[in-house]
Amino acid sequence: MPGSEAVAYDPAVPKHSVPAPRSLHVRAARVLEGNWTGTSTVPSHGLYPHQWSWDSAFIAIGLRHLSPLRAQTELETLLSGQWEDGRIPHIVFNPSVPLDAYFPSPDFWRSSTAGHAAGAPRTVQTSGIVQPPVHALAAWLVHCADPGLSRARGFLAQVYPRLAAWHRYLLHRRDLGAGSLASVVHPWEQGMDNSPCWDAPLSRITPAPARSFRRADLDHGAPEDRPTDLDYGRYVRLATDYRDAGYADGTSDFAVEDPAFNALLIASEHALARIAQELGATGTARHARAERLTAALIERLWDPAEEMFFCRDVRGGELIRERSVSGLVPLLLPGLPQKITDALVRTLGGAHFGLGDSTRLVPSYDLLGEAFDPHRYWRGPAWFNTSWLVERGLRTHGEQERADALRQAVLDTAGTTDFAEYVDPYTGEACGATGFSWTAALTLDLLHNGPGDDMSPTGIRTFEMSDRGGDRG
Ligand code: SER
Repeated sequence: MPGSEAVAYDPAVPKHSVPAPRSLHVRAARVLEGNWTGTSTVPSHGLYPHQWSWDSAFIAIGLRHLSPLRAQTELETLLSGQWEDGRIPHIVFNPSVPLDAYFPSPDFWRSSTAGHAAGAPRTVQTSGIVQPPVHALAAWLVHCADPGLSRARGFLAQVYPRLAAWHRYLLHRRDLGAGSLASVVHPWEQGMDNSPCWDAPLSRITPAPARSFRRADLDHGAPEDRPTDLDYGRYVRLATDYRDAGYADGTSDFAVEDPAFNALLIASEHALARIAQELGATGTARHARAERLTAALIERLWDPAEEMFFCRDVRGGELIRERSVSGLVPLLLPGLPQKITDALVRTLGGAHFGLGDSTRLVPSYDLLGEAFDPHRYWRGPAWFNTSWLVERGLRTHGEQERADALRQAVLDTAGTTDFAEYVDPYTGEACGATGFSWTAALTLDLLHNGPGDDMSPTGIRTFEMSDRGGDRG
């Protein structure tokens, strides 16, 4: 059994050097303190010096254990950048950060002018693309960490209509494949920028000329760990064309239905149902919609022979048969048939991801894939947020032993790498930035949700257990 082999793997750092949980808690809290701006948290001061959408949702999930008020504020600040069409932009810019600190900067996106027809805010500058919808899930978990404070501040009543509008935007404006799933129109929207899943659909895009922009990311990361200039040119072209079309949806040459993006939407739809119930409604229609979306996810993206979910290229029509961690993230859904969860667990522990055998955290891409690279952005390295999602999924489906091993690996590796942005999946060596906010936040969350937590495979029990962890904190 792959799970029981976890102890055989040497994570390259001797066990005795792994910091004790208490000090890990203090160190994680310090990272979040250092990255706090007063109203939100930057993912990393150098590489990502503004507020990022899905980062903030993960950050709020951890921050609730330190300060439920700060966690609420984190989400409220993000929502101040929401557009009238419902989209939550992937970046809310901090006006005090110099323009050249990050590219593409506000003068590239021009949200308040180019996004005028789509209802971009006038005073806050944002990007025009989105990121995975982790927000309703985060809002529910933040509420549960301190329901008294949340009710006193009217937190859920304030965020609910905004989150409902966000889901409406994704389910209506972004159903580009007419298959009842949301499509992403840029690799940055799915969050795994450089995944080999995008290689085929991106190859149709003419790159923007290299001299037409200046990358700021290379000031902070090693070029061999970051996307190539060719891919960057394509990212810029897609964003430019979207902007020049007034951020109207439906015309992009790049449109992909992604399993992780849609699984997070479904988990958030379940969370939105819980929020509606807390506010006095029944939530039944939302739970039912989440179940229908789960059925669509299986119908459109599940491959029973390969025992994985795959992306679907909406413009080409076919599945993109690249094995990415994205295809394992749906494990977090409570409503998956047992046949599928058993298959996903087999895939996780098998040769393509090697979890508990050759790897301790979940690699972002197929260890046996032609494009595999243990260091390059989303083409092999392991990230902490995806391992956290898979850990939640394993626990939801009663795989306690595997979940405990993955939880321990996340905690050990976060501690030994100083909360790295991502790591080599074989050695646990740090890549990218250190002091990365979501790594610290999700470490805190796992510290508050101990091993052996008894999860039921029905309902959204994983997240109910997290709620109890919140109360303890
Ligand atoms: N991760 C992307 C970047 O490198 C988009 O947020 O900027």
